[in-house]
Amino acid sequence: MTATYNFDTVLERRGTGSIKWELYGPDVLPLWVADMDFPSPEPILNALKDRVEHGVFGYAFDDPALRQVLVERMARLYNWSIEPGDILFLPNLVSALAASSRAYAAEGEGVLMNTPVYPPFLASPKTCDRAQIVAPLAMTQDGQVIRYELDLDAMEAAITPSTRVFMLCNPHNPVGRAWSRAELEQIAAFCLRHKLLIVSDDIHCDLLLDEVKHIPIASLSPEVAAQTITLMAPSKTFNIPSLGLGFAIAQDAGLRGRFQKVTDYVVPHPGPMGFVGALAAYTQCQSWLDSLLPYLRANRDFLVEYTQQHFPNVSVTRPEATYLSWMDFRSLNLPGSPYKFLLEHAKVAFNDGAAFGEAGTGFVRVNLGCPRSTLHEALERVREAVSSV
Ligand SMILES: Cc1ncc(COP(=O)(O)O)c(C=O)c1O
Repeated sequence: MTATYNFDTVLERRGTGSIKWELYGPDVLPLWVADMDFPSPEPILNALKDRVEHGVFGYAFDDPALRQVLVERMARLYNWSIEPGDILFLPNLVSALAASSRAYAAEGEGVLMNTPVYPPFLASPKTCDRAQIVAPLAMTQDGQVIRYELDLDAMEAAITPSTRVFMLCNPHNPVGRAWSRAELEQIAAFCLRHKLLIVSDDIHCDLLLDEVKHIPIASLSPEVAAQTITLMAPSKTFNIPSLGLGFAIAQDAGLRGRFQKVTDYVVPHPGPMGFVGALAAYTQCQSWLDSLLPYLRANRDFLVEYTQQHFPNVSVTRPEATYLSWMDFRSLNLPGSPYKFLLEHAKVAFNDGAAFGEAGTGFVRVNLGCPRSTLHEALERVREAVSSV
């Protein structure tokens, strides 16, 4: 029997300590920070309830069963053979991004990344006096639909002799690309040639909206795996970021050791709810995910069509992965920035594109992880606000 899930129900999230819903005033509709307005799948809720029923919340150990599930998952989904001991459990991935610059580059050495990119990438080298080296992705346009491509020339031009790390976002937040095998091979060749370690943030790997595959870059070859640390989590996929469970996969013991040296005693171990939620997510929630993806895809298409119908001078991505769209408002010359203008005049909170690097100025990031009616209302508000300029 296939279960059906209703993603149209609007849930009240104010009053639950939600940063998305409570940072701005009650009159603001929030489509910014990347969590979804959907309840988590029922098997996760049941597993958490059972754990709460037990009533004792002492320190959590490791979870060998979860390690085994992850080993099998990597083999099944990506034909990627890892060992249980290659996995390091983490309470979140932002701390892992920050730790990576400390672990793999010395003070003053460079950390390269493609922009626009998720802001904690940009912050990572800066938190520890490493050099932030950015290479913009190339933007192409077909009508009002924009798409981003790798720009290896820009990467060659940006890299310095003391650059040590390339931080890859795959699938890429905010531009929604799931990098193809050919593109990943180009990135890997570039990193091998320049002796760069690769930190690959694959947190959005399950959120594939089109017939695209996710390919962890470390799965390309043992040579690439030997210089890559991959970051993943069930948190975006199953909407459980605050349960606090992510993980790093590093097949090279030296890379694992360097990472642990900076995280031990600094980054806490995950708690019991993280382990319980993750195990339920990865073992019992595939049918929920199979229903979620078409809903997100339809939201994406709704946004593209709405843009084409009502905003002739605005462009938008058609993300092949993630639940994040990226809109280019530059040609409207909205006073201040599109983010500020839309917050003030439309009462809709998007993410400010400028936070994703210079390449994001004049853009906003739109979170599609909400009921269609919420997305529709936000767009109606935007339409009304921009019609007055
Ligand atoms: C690419 C990427 N990495 C990491 C995170 C955050 O991960 P965590 O909540 O585990 O810190 C996000 C959240 O939006 C993200 O988009």
